[in-house]
Amino acid sequence: MAEFRLPANSRIRPGKQFQAPADAKQVKQFVVYRYDPDTGENPRLDTYELDVARCGPMVLDALIKIKNEVDPTLTFRRSCREGICGSCAMNIDGTNTLACTKAIDEVSGDVKIYPLPHLPVVKDLVPDLTNFYAQYASIKPWIQTRTPPPPDSERLQSKEDQEKINEPSACILCACCSTACPSYWWNSDRYLGPAALLAAYRWIVDSRDEATGERLDALQDPFKLYRCHTIMNCTRTCPKGLNPARAIAEIKLKLAERQY
Ligand code: SF4
Ligand code: SF4
Ligand code: FES
Repeated sequence: MAEFRLPANSRIRPGKQFQAPADAKQVKQFVVYRYDPDTGENPRLDTYELDVARCGPMVLDALIKIKNEVDPTLTFRRSCREGICGSCAMNIDGTNTLACTKAIDEVSGDVKIYPLPHLPVVKDLVPDLTNFYAQYASIKPWIQTRTPPPPDSERLQSKEDQEKINEPSACILCACCSTACPSYWWNSDRYLGPAALLAAYRWIVDSRDEATGERLDALQDPFKLYRCHTIMNCTRTCPKGLNPARAIAEIKLKLAERQY
Protein backbone atom coordinates (compact mmCIF):
# COMPACT_ATOMS: atom_id res chain seq x y z
CA MET A 1 0.00 0.00 0.00
CA ALA A 2 1.48 3.38 -1.05
CA GLU A 3 1.77 5.77 1.89
CA PHE A 4 -0.43 8.87 1.84
CA ARG A 5 1.53 11.83 3.24
CA LEU A 6 -0.05 14.74 5.10
CA PRO A 7 1.46 18.26 5.19
CA ALA A 8 3.85 18.62 8.16
CA ASN A 9 1.64 21.27 9.86
CA SER A 10 -1.62 19.34 9.49
CA ARG A 11 -3.69 18.66 12.61
CA ILE A 12 -5.33 15.79 10.78
CA ARG A 13 -3.48 12.62 11.62
CA PRO A 14 -3.00 9.56 9.42
CA GLY A 15 -5.58 6.94 10.31
CA LYS A 16 -6.30 3.30 9.62
CA GLN A 17 -5.28 1.53 6.45
CA PHE A 18 -7.46 -1.10 4.81
CA GLN A 19 -5.85 -3.38 2.22
CA ALA A 20 -7.51 -4.59 -0.97
CA PRO A 21 -8.30 -8.32 -1.25
CA ALA A 22 -5.37 -10.44 -2.43
CA ASP A 23 -7.13 -11.27 -5.71
CA ALA A 24 -7.91 -7.63 -6.56
CA LYS A 25 -7.58 -6.82 -10.26
CA GLN A 26 -7.58 -3.00 -10.27
CA VAL A 27 -6.62 -1.36 -6.98
CA LYS A 28 -7.30 2.29 -6.20
CA GLN A 29 -6.80 4.13 -2.91
CA PHE A 30 -9.53 6.21 -1.32
CA VAL A 31 -8.30 8.59 1.36
CA VAL A 32 -11.28 9.58 3.48
CA TYR A 33 -11.67 12.20 6.21
CA ARG A 34 -12.89 10.70 9.48
CA TYR A 35 -14.05 12.70 12.48
CA ASP A 36 -16.32 11.94 15.38
CA PRO A 37 -16.66 14.99 17.67
CA ASP A 38 -17.99 12.77 20.47
CA THR A 39 -14.60 11.08 20.86
CA GLY A 40 -12.71 14.33 21.44
CA GLU A 41 -10.00 13.08 19.06
CA ASN A 42 -8.55 15.07 16.18
CA PRO A 43 -9.75 14.19 12.68
CA ARG A 44 -7.84 11.50 10.80
CA LEU A 45 -7.55 10.27 7.24
CA ASP A 46 -8.31 6.59 6.72
CA THR A 47 -7.03 4.90 3.59
CA TYR A 48 -9.07 2.23 1.85
CA GLU A 49 -7.77 0.15 -1.02
CA LEU A 50 -10.63 -1.00 -3.23
CA ASP A 51 -10.76 -3.30 -6.23
CA VAL A 52 -12.52 -0.85 -8.56
CA ALA A 53 -13.00 -3.65 -11.08
CA ARG A 54 -15.64 -4.89 -8.64
CA CYS A 55 -17.21 -1.53 -7.86
CA GLY A 56 -19.73 0.75 -9.52
CA PRO A 57 -18.30 3.66 -11.52
CA MET A 58 -19.00 6.57 -9.19
CA VAL A 59 -17.30 7.78 -6.02
CA LEU A 60 -20.57 7.16 -4.16
CA ASP A 61 -20.41 3.52 -5.28
CA ALA A 62 -16.96 3.30 -3.70
CA LEU A 63 -18.19 4.83 -0.43
CA ILE A 64 -21.13 2.42 -0.32
CA LYS A 65 -18.76 -0.48 -1.00
CA ILE A 66 -16.50 0.66 1.83
CA LYS A 67 -19.45 0.95 4.22
CA ASN A 68 -21.00 -2.39 3.20
CA GLU A 69 -17.88 -4.52 2.85
CA VAL A 70 -14.95 -2.91 4.66
CA ASP A 71 -15.82 -0.41 7.40
CA PRO A 72 -19.43 0.05 8.54
CA THR A 73 -18.43 2.98 10.77
CA LEU A 74 -17.95 5.32 7.80
CA THR A 75 -20.72 7.94 7.79
CA PHE A 76 -21.98 9.92 4.79
CA ARG A 77 -25.28 11.16 3.36
CA ARG A 78 -26.88 9.96 0.16
CA SER A 79 -30.35 9.31 -1.15
CA CYS A 80 -31.20 9.45 -4.85
CA ARG A 81 -27.82 8.51 -6.39
CA GLU A 82 -29.03 10.42 -9.47
CA GLY A 83 -27.77 13.97 -8.82
CA ILE A 84 -31.24 15.09 -7.76
CA CYS A 85 -31.39 15.23 -3.96
CA GLY A 86 -28.10 17.01 -3.22
CA SER A 87 -27.43 14.83 -0.16
CA CYS A 88 -24.09 13.39 -1.24
CA ALA A 89 -22.30 16.73 -1.73
CA MET A 90 -18.70 16.53 -0.52
CA ASN A 91 -15.20 17.64 -1.48
CA ILE A 92 -13.65 15.13 -3.86
CA ASP A 93 -10.20 15.61 -5.37
CA GLY A 94 -10.23 19.23 -4.17
CA THR A 95 -13.60 20.20 -5.62
CA ASN A 96 -17.06 20.39 -4.06
CA THR A 97 -19.29 18.05 -6.03
CA LEU A 98 -21.80 15.20 -5.84
CA ALA A 99 -20.32 11.80 -5.05
CA CYS A 100 -23.05 10.09 -7.08
CA THR A 101 -22.19 11.91 -10.32
CA LYS A 102 -18.39 12.05 -9.88
CA ALA A 103 -16.79 9.17 -11.76
CA ILE A 104 -13.91 7.39 -10.04
CA ASP A 105 -12.10 7.38 -13.40
CA GLU A 106 -12.07 11.18 -13.46
CA VAL A 107 -9.62 11.21 -10.53
CA SER A 108 -6.03 10.39 -11.33
CA GLY A 109 -4.16 8.91 -8.38
CA ASP A 110 -5.71 8.59 -4.93
CA VAL A 111 -9.30 9.72 -4.47
CA LYS A 112 -9.23 12.21 -1.58
CA ILE A 113 -12.62 12.76 0.03
CA TYR A 114 -13.45 15.42 2.63
CA PRO A 115 -16.72 16.92 3.87
CA LEU A 116 -17.87 20.22 2.36
CA PRO A 117 -15.40 22.82 3.67
CA HIS A 118 -15.90 25.43 6.38
CA LEU A 119 -18.96 23.86 7.98
CA PRO A 120 -19.12 22.15 11.38
CA VAL A 121 -18.82 18.39 10.94
CA VAL A 122 -21.50 16.17 12.47
CA LYS A 123 -19.51 13.02 11.70
CA ASP A 124 -17.06 12.00 8.95
CA LEU A 125 -18.44 13.31 5.64
CA VAL A 126 -21.66 14.74 7.10
CA PRO A 127 -21.61 18.54 7.52
CA ASP A 128 -24.02 20.49 9.69
CA LEU A 129 -26.29 22.36 7.27
CA THR A 130 -28.51 24.00 9.91
CA ASN A 131 -27.36 27.53 9.08
CA PHE A 132 -27.49 26.85 5.33
CA TYR A 133 -31.14 25.75 5.52
CA ALA A 134 -32.06 28.62 7.86
CA GLN A 135 -30.63 31.04 5.29
CA TYR A 136 -32.66 29.36 2.57
CA ALA A 137 -35.82 29.69 4.69
CA SER A 138 -35.00 33.36 5.34
CA ILE A 139 -35.50 34.30 1.68
CA LYS A 140 -39.11 32.97 1.88
CA PRO A 141 -38.86 30.41 -0.90
CA TRP A 142 -42.56 30.30 -1.72
CA ILE A 143 -44.91 32.38 -3.86
CA GLN A 144 -46.31 35.47 -2.15
CA THR A 145 -49.41 37.11 -3.61
CA ARG A 146 -51.76 39.96 -2.72
CA THR A 147 -54.41 39.53 -5.43
CA PRO A 148 -56.77 36.55 -5.59
CA PRO A 149 -56.10 33.95 -8.28
CA PRO A 150 -58.35 33.89 -11.38
CA PRO A 151 -61.65 32.20 -10.44
CA ASP A 152 -61.40 29.51 -13.11
CA SER A 153 -57.68 28.82 -13.51
CA GLU A 154 -54.29 28.70 -11.84
CA ARG A 155 -51.96 31.69 -11.92
CA LEU A 156 -50.65 31.31 -15.44
CA GLN A 157 -47.30 32.38 -16.81
CA SER A 158 -46.07 33.02 -20.35
CA LYS A 159 -43.47 30.68 -21.81
CA GLU A 160 -40.94 33.53 -21.73
CA ASP A 161 -41.59 34.22 -18.05
CA GLN A 162 -41.34 30.52 -17.23
CA GLU A 163 -37.96 30.41 -18.97
CA LYS A 164 -36.64 33.04 -16.54
CA ILE A 165 -37.13 30.68 -13.61
CA ASN A 166 -36.18 27.40 -15.27
CA GLU A 167 -32.48 27.58 -14.44
CA PRO A 168 -32.67 28.89 -10.85
CA SER A 169 -35.45 26.36 -10.12
CA ALA A 170 -33.05 23.55 -11.00
CA CYS A 171 -30.99 24.17 -7.86
CA ILE A 172 -30.89 21.04 -5.67
CA LEU A 173 -29.60 22.87 -2.55
CA CYS A 174 -26.51 20.71 -2.36
CA ALA A 175 -24.47 23.59 -0.82
CA CYS A 176 -21.45 22.96 -3.06
CA CYS A 177 -21.49 26.60 -4.19
CA SER A 178 -21.87 28.30 -0.81
CA THR A 179 -19.15 26.18 0.76
CA ALA A 180 -16.79 27.00 -2.12
CA CYS A 181 -17.26 30.75 -1.64
CA PRO A 182 -14.52 32.53 0.35
CA SER A 183 -16.93 35.31 1.32
CA TYR A 184 -19.25 32.67 2.77
CA TRP A 185 -16.40 30.97 4.64
CA TRP A 186 -15.60 34.15 6.55
CA ASN A 187 -19.12 35.63 6.94
CA SER A 188 -21.58 32.75 6.84
CA ASP A 189 -23.36 34.18 9.88
CA ARG A 190 -24.39 37.28 7.92
CA TYR A 191 -23.76 36.69 4.20
CA LEU A 192 -26.53 34.55 2.66
CA GLY A 193 -24.22 32.82 0.19
CA PRO A 194 -24.82 31.90 -3.45
CA ALA A 195 -27.36 29.10 -2.94
CA ALA A 196 -29.79 31.20 -0.89
CA LEU A 197 -29.27 34.19 -3.19
CA LEU A 198 -29.96 32.09 -6.28
CA ALA A 199 -33.21 31.01 -4.61
CA ALA A 200 -34.03 34.64 -3.80
CA TYR A 201 -33.45 35.53 -7.44
CA ARG A 202 -35.74 32.70 -8.56
CA TRP A 203 -38.66 34.35 -6.69
CA ILE A 204 -37.68 37.93 -7.59
CA VAL A 205 -37.99 37.14 -11.31
CA ASP A 206 -41.12 34.98 -11.00
CA SER A 207 -43.84 36.94 -12.85
CA ARG A 208 -46.55 35.49 -10.55
CA ASP A 209 -44.95 36.64 -7.30
CA GLU A 210 -46.21 39.95 -5.88
CA ALA A 211 -43.61 40.57 -3.19
CA THR A 212 -40.72 41.62 -5.44
CA GLY A 213 -40.24 44.94 -3.64
CA GLU A 214 -40.13 43.32 -0.19
CA ARG A 215 -37.75 40.66 -1.45
CA LEU A 216 -35.37 43.30 -2.80
CA ASP A 217 -35.71 45.39 0.39
CA ALA A 218 -34.70 42.37 2.45
CA LEU A 219 -31.47 41.98 0.45
CA GLN A 220 -30.51 45.67 0.64
CA ASP A 221 -27.92 44.94 3.29
CA PRO A 222 -24.13 45.26 3.36
CA PHE A 223 -23.70 41.62 4.38
CA LYS A 224 -26.64 39.52 3.13
CA LEU A 225 -25.97 40.34 -0.54
CA TYR A 226 -23.01 42.65 -0.95
CA ARG A 227 -20.40 40.32 0.53
CA CYS A 228 -20.36 38.69 -2.89
CA HIS A 229 -17.21 39.93 -4.60
CA THR A 230 -17.77 38.08 -7.88
CA ILE A 231 -15.00 35.57 -7.23
CA MET A 232 -17.04 33.01 -9.26
CA ASN A 233 -16.09 29.89 -7.28
CA CYS A 234 -19.80 29.20 -6.88
CA THR A 235 -20.53 28.98 -10.59
CA ARG A 236 -17.34 27.01 -11.29
CA THR A 237 -18.20 24.34 -8.73
CA CYS A 238 -21.97 23.91 -9.24
CA PRO A 239 -22.49 20.24 -10.19
CA LYS A 240 -25.76 21.15 -11.93
CA GLY A 241 -24.10 23.75 -14.19
CA LEU A 242 -26.05 26.67 -12.70
CA ASN A 243 -24.79 30.23 -12.44
CA PRO A 244 -25.46 31.70 -8.99
CA ALA A 245 -22.85 34.43 -9.55
CA ARG A 246 -24.85 35.81 -12.48
CA ALA A 247 -28.07 35.68 -10.43
CA ILE A 248 -26.37 37.66 -7.65
CA ALA A 249 -25.12 40.23 -10.17
CA GLU A 250 -28.66 40.57 -11.53
CA ILE A 251 -30.09 41.15 -8.05
CA LYS A 252 -27.49 43.88 -7.51
CA LEU A 253 -28.46 45.42 -10.85
CA LYS A 254 -32.15 45.41 -9.95
CA LEU A 255 -31.35 47.16 -6.67
CA ALA A 256 -29.16 49.72 -8.44
CA GLU A 257 -31.81 50.41 -11.09
CA ARG A 258 -34.40 50.85 -8.39
CA GLN A 259 -32.37 53.45 -6.54
CA TYR A 260 -31.17 55.69 -9.35
S1 SF4 B 1 -19.34 35.06 -7.07
FE1 SF4 B 1 -20.01 35.74 -5.06
S2 SF4 B 1 -21.16 34.04 -4.26
FE2 SF4 B 1 -19.96 33.25 -5.97
S3 SF4 B 1 -18.07 32.48 -5.01
FE3 SF4 B 1 -17.74 34.57 -5.59
S4 SF4 B 1 -18.18 35.81 -3.78
FE4 SF4 B 1 -19.08 33.79 -3.50
S1 SF4 C 1 -26.55 26.50 -7.18
FE1 SF4 C 1 -25.63 24.53 -7.75
S2 SF4 C 1 -24.01 24.22 -6.23
FE2 SF4 C 1 -25.39 25.77 -5.41
S3 SF4 C 1 -26.81 24.66 -4.12
FE3 SF4 C 1 -27.75 24.89 -6.16
S4 SF4 C 1 -27.20 23.03 -7.26
FE4 SF4 C 1 -25.86 23.14 -5.49
S1 FES D 1 -27.31 10.91 -3.75
FE1 FES D 1 -28.73 12.46 -4.39
S2 FES D 1 -27.48 13.91 -5.37
FE2 FES D 1 -26.10 12.31 -4.90
